Amino acid sequence: MKPEKFLPYAKQSIDQSDIEAVTKALQQELITRNGQVAQFEKEFAAYCGTKWAVMMSSGTAALYGAFQAARVSAFDRFITTPNTFIATAAAGTRLGARPVFVDIDRESGNMSLDSLKEVLSQPISRGRFVIAPVHFAGIAVDMQKMDAQLKSPDVVVIEDAAHAIGSLYPDGSKVGSCLWSQMTIFSFHPAKTMTTGEGGCVTTNDDELYRRLLLFRNSGMEKEAPYIEGTAAPWYYEVHEVSGVYHATEMQAALGLSQLKRLDSFVQKRRQLVKWYRERFAGSSNIRLFNEAFDERSAYHLMVVQIDGLSRTGIMDQLREKGIGSQCHYIPLYHQPVIKKMVGNVAQQFPEMEGYYRDALSLPLFFEMEEQDVEYVCTVLKEIVKG
Ligand SMILES: Cc1ncc(COP(=O)(O)O)c(C=O)c1O
Repeated sequence: MKPEKFLPYAKQSIDQSDIEAVTKALQQELITRNGQVAQFEKEFAAYCGTKWAVMMSSGTAALYGAFQAARVSAFDRFITTPNTFIATAAAGTRLGARPVFVDIDRESGNMSLDSLKEVLSQPISRGRFVIAPVHFAGIAVDMQKMDAQLKSPDVVVIEDAAHAIGSLYPDGSKVGSCLWSQMTIFSFHPAKTMTTGEGGCVTTNDDELYRRLLLFRNSGMEKEAPYIEGTAAPWYYEVHEVSGVYHATEMQAALGLSQLKRLDSFVQKRRQLVKWYRERFAGSSNIRLFNEAFDERSAYHLMVVQIDGLSRTGIMDQLREKGIGSQCHYIPLYHQPVIKKMVGNVAQQFPEMEGYYRDALSLPLFFEMEEQDVEYVCTVLKEIVKG
C-alpha cells in the first residue's frame, strides 16, 4: 500500500526529548562554548572508546581539522577512495596533496585492500603516505588488515566514518576507537545515523593531535607556553596557523547528547530495515545488495542496491512518481571537474568503481520507516526493473 507521506532516501528522527534538550540549551546564558559541547565530547569519546573527541561545526570541518592537525602537505602521497563525498578528497587537496585513488570492492562499496596494497608498493621519495579510508554506507573497512599492510611506521591514517556511527570492525571494536589510525571523523548531518542539525566530530587517542584539533577549531590561536613567542597573559594570544572558526554550538551539542541516548535504537532499527529489504530482494535476478556477511556489524547509513542494466534517471523518475526518493552514492570523485584537473582522465583505471557507478541506487532508509514501507519500496522497484 502506498504510504501517505513521501519516503525520502534519508531523514532524521527528532522526538520530544530532543526538542526539550535543545530548548534547554537555548535558555543557557552562553549558547556557544559552554558545558554541552564538552559533555558531548566526553560521552561520544566513551561511546567510541577513545581518549578524545573534538566536536566541530560539520563533518567537512572535522575532516579539514584532522588533515591540518596531521600537517598533511603537498609532499605527502594522499590515498583515498573515489566512492565518497567531495569533502574526503578536499581535506587533502586544500593542503596541496593530490589525491591518488584506489579501486573499490563491489561487495561493500569500500576501498579494495588488494588495490591499496599495490598503491603502497610504489615507493615515495619524500613525504608520507596519508590514507583516508571511508566506511561506505556504514560497512567498516577491515582496519586491522589494512594496518598489517603498512610497512612504514611513518604513515598517517585518517578514517572517514561519516556513514558509520555505531558500526563495528571485524574484531567487534567500535568504529572511531582509532586502534589502527591516528584519527576518525564523523558527520552528524540530518541524513546520517544520528544528527546535530549540522555537525561533526574527530576522535583520537593522541594528545598532541587533540591539542592541534582544538587549535584548528579556534582560528589557530595559541595562548600558552611553550607554543607562544611572547609572554602569556589572560588577554594574549598568537596566531601561528591559518584556520577558521569551526565550533559547534550548545544547541548542536545538546541535540547530540539527546540523540546519543537514542543511538542504539537507531542502529538496531537500521539493521532490521536492511534485513527486511534483504528478504524481499532475495529472489531477484537483477537487484543485488552488499554482502550479507557485513550486516551484523554494520550500522547502515545507506540502503544501496546495484541493478543490472540500470537506467538511473528513468528509475528515479518512476520511483518519485510513486512517492519514493532515491539517490546515487557516489559519482566517482575522479569524474568531478575539480578533481579531474588534478588527476586527468583516469576512469579506465577503476573498472570496479565504474561498474558500481553504472548500477548503484540508494533507496529509503531511515528510523521512522516501517516494514510495510520497505514492502512498498521493494514491490514498486521490482515492478519497474522486472526483478
Ligand atoms: C563520506 C562523507 N564524508 C564527509 C562528509 C561531510 O560531512 P558534512 O556534511 O557533515 O560536512 C559526508 C557528508 O555527506 C560524507 O558522506
